[in-house]
Amino acid sequence: SRWNVENVDNLHEHPAIQEAAMWMKEGEVIAFPTETVYGLGANACSNEAIEKIFEAKGRPSDNPLIVHIAEIEQLEQATTTWSETAQKLMDAFWPGPLTIILPKNERIAERTTAGLSSVGVRMPDHPVALALIKACGLPIAAPSANRSGKPSPTKGEHVYKDLNGRIKGIIDAGSTGVGLESTVVEVSGDVVTILRPGGISKAQLEEIVDHVKLDEALFESGQVPRSPGMKYTHYAPDAPLFLVEGNHVFFQKVIDQYEAEGQKVGILISNERAEHVTANVIKCLGSSNQVEDVAQNLYHQLRSFDDTDVDIILAEMYPVDGIGEALMNRLMKAAGNRMIADNHNRD
Ligand code: TXA
Ligand code: MG
Repeated sequence: SRWNVENVDNLHEHPAIQEAAMWMKEGEVIAFPTETVYGLGANACSNEAIEKIFEAKGRPSDNPLIVHIAEIEQLEQATTTWSETAQKLMDAFWPGPLTIILPKNERIAERTTAGLSSVGVRMPDHPVALALIKACGLPIAAPSANRSGKPSPTKGEHVYKDLNGRIKGIIDAGSTGVGLESTVVEVSGDVVTILRPGGISKAQLEEIVDHVKLDEALFESGQVPRSPGMKYTHYAPDAPLFLVEGNHVFFQKVIDQYEAEGQKVGILISNERAEHVTANVIKCLGSSNQVEDVAQNLYHQLRSFDDTDVDIILAEMYPVDGIGEALMNRLMKAAGNRMIADNHNRD
């Protein structure tokens, strides 16, 4: 089924929520909106239910899933204990796009955490997600509701395209707000380590806790080589994507070079840059002064290239702060870390 609940009041009494919750309690998989991206949810306490998530996604089951709760009382269904620092983070950012790694409660299924003794927990800030989880009364494990290898879904239609026929239902509430996944943090004493940048920035965390650092692994995989790399291997759109660092004159030069080689070029740029460059296919992400908009539109526009016949995608870069941390992290992943830089203008 595909239920549309966009702009619906009284979600708790809505038949779509009731029916979806009923399916989840019976061990089935339901896609639902959160404030970040759509999630593919199932009972976090059932190995059989979680197995269906991996089957639907076509993803190897070695990656732990995030467990979603609707109210703080539910925390005890997922974890055994949490520190004062973790409590501060919950008070400040829940409901919201922050996932906190905590010790796993024995009720959470092994498959949910891929065998780990820890579990990632978050309370999403979306009325549909909250109503659904409450109606289930269960902790709900949910990875992003895309087929493995595709960008995360930010609209019901993305989920439908990827997973129709593979799951029991999709609750469609239109576009998600943040558009990028939650920030995942680990807490040790009073030190908070960011494992995945996301909807809550480092600066926001620093307003609440004294010591925030970025996981070393982010730098290893996130390192940007200063020259065009080799063959495209990573996820995201079908066509290979390259980040272009430089002003619009340099950007146009790169476009012209590829077009001169007979390649059909698509570009992924801000509204401002769109006034200065031209290419076969142009996808705008919004104003570069509104990086929140750029983040919200990223996955949709990445997907939209798959309906075109471009051979290569060239993407603009954004400052790495606020939501820009997550935005650049996802863009670099989509590019497999490949960047074309204007080395002539360096000092
Ligand atoms: O915004 C989001 O977080 C979305 C929505 C649906 O809530 N969910 C999401 O889930 O992005 P997924 O499965 O695509 O990403 C989960 C991330 C992975 O990077 C995983 O490695 C990490 O969280 N993670 C989960 N449990 C963990 C654990 N126990 N220890 C370390 N990392 C964990
Ligand atoms: Mg994902």
